[in-house]
Amino acid sequence: MNGVFSEHFTIGGAVNSSTVLGSRELIVKHFGSLTAENEMKPMVIHPRMGSWIPYGADEIANLAREHGMGMRGHTLVWHQQTPGWFFSSMGAQASPEVLLERLEDHFTRMQDRYGDVVYAWDVVNEAISDAPGEFLRPSPYLEILGEDYIEEAFRLAKRIMPDAKLYYNDYSVLDPAKQDKIYTLLSGLLEKGVPIDGIGFQGHWNIYFPDSRTLERGIQRFAALGLDVQITELDVSVYRHEDRATRLKEPTPEILELQADRYREIFQTLVNNSQYVSNVTFWGVADDKTWLDNFPVSGRKNWPLLFAEDHSPKPAYYAVVEAAGGNP
Ligand code: XIL
Repeated sequence: MNGVFSEHFTIGGAVNSSTVLGSRELIVKHFGSLTAENEMKPMVIHPRMGSWIPYGADEIANLAREHGMGMRGHTLVWHQQTPGWFFSSMGAQASPEVLLERLEDHFTRMQDRYGDVVYAWDVVNEAISDAPGEFLRPSPYLEILGEDYIEEAFRLAKRIMPDAKLYYNDYSVLDPAKQDKIYTLLSGLLEKGVPIDGIGFQGHWNIYFPDSRTLERGIQRFAALGLDVQITELDVSVYRHEDRATRLKEPTPEILELQADRYREIFQTLVNNSQYVSNVTFWGVADDKTWLDNFPVSGRKNWPLLFAEDHSPKPAYYAVVEAAGGNP
């Protein structure tokens, strides 16, 4: 798949230790870029103060090196999957200086170990609030460092990872209210000269959303700021966003067709706007392992990717390849 899109953008996938084992063939055949689904997050790398557990990340980085793939580093500053010790010191809340030292240490270790293979970092993930009237999401970073923490994170990343592309990554970028907030944040930072290269649209979408116009407008709005756009966590749920029902035991042929149509429309739009888009990454490999089996409903099976549970290509796969005008 990576090959058929080569004149437009690279195609990536999020992998973890179990998909590297069970889906290696698909990964190597279809992806030109990898993201560690969890293994580069601070919680996994150093769950306790002084611990350093890079083995899962090493495995993924080595697979990328072996096959000449680049990696998207995910993610440096996020309110989730960051261990509590980052934010505390001697039984109290850490001072800004202590937290910044910890970030510097973390960034430096990641750069030293993976700087050869990681070409892009999600420096800040999900900083914007979903709540009406609230701008930044409440988080220990905001509490300790104040609202300049985003700017400080990008400046620190630029100093430590001078050659990497630096992204702000978020979900619901196509929601009008959230998009306005993200636009305000990023245009303000760019005006101040903060080193941001691009925006990641996570792309946790579904068989009914988004339409091509909404996606195109979103891409072009951020591209007009001079930002590169990457789709960083693409999957197309078989459920509507707000749907919590657990009725499906397997996807019906109608659902698989709707999913293929949505993927086709998404990829046609991405191809039409490929001067602004440099990478499209799926959040997983095949439907046998997807984070949507536990989100937003724990234990509800979902089938959001291009390959079925048995790894055979789904109608969505053929639709995506067709959108590139290529052969599978
Ligand atoms: C998810 C992983 O897929 C899960 O395995 C993990 O339990 C929780 O995190 N937005 C992000 C990703 O930026 O890091 C999240 O990944 C999905 C939502």
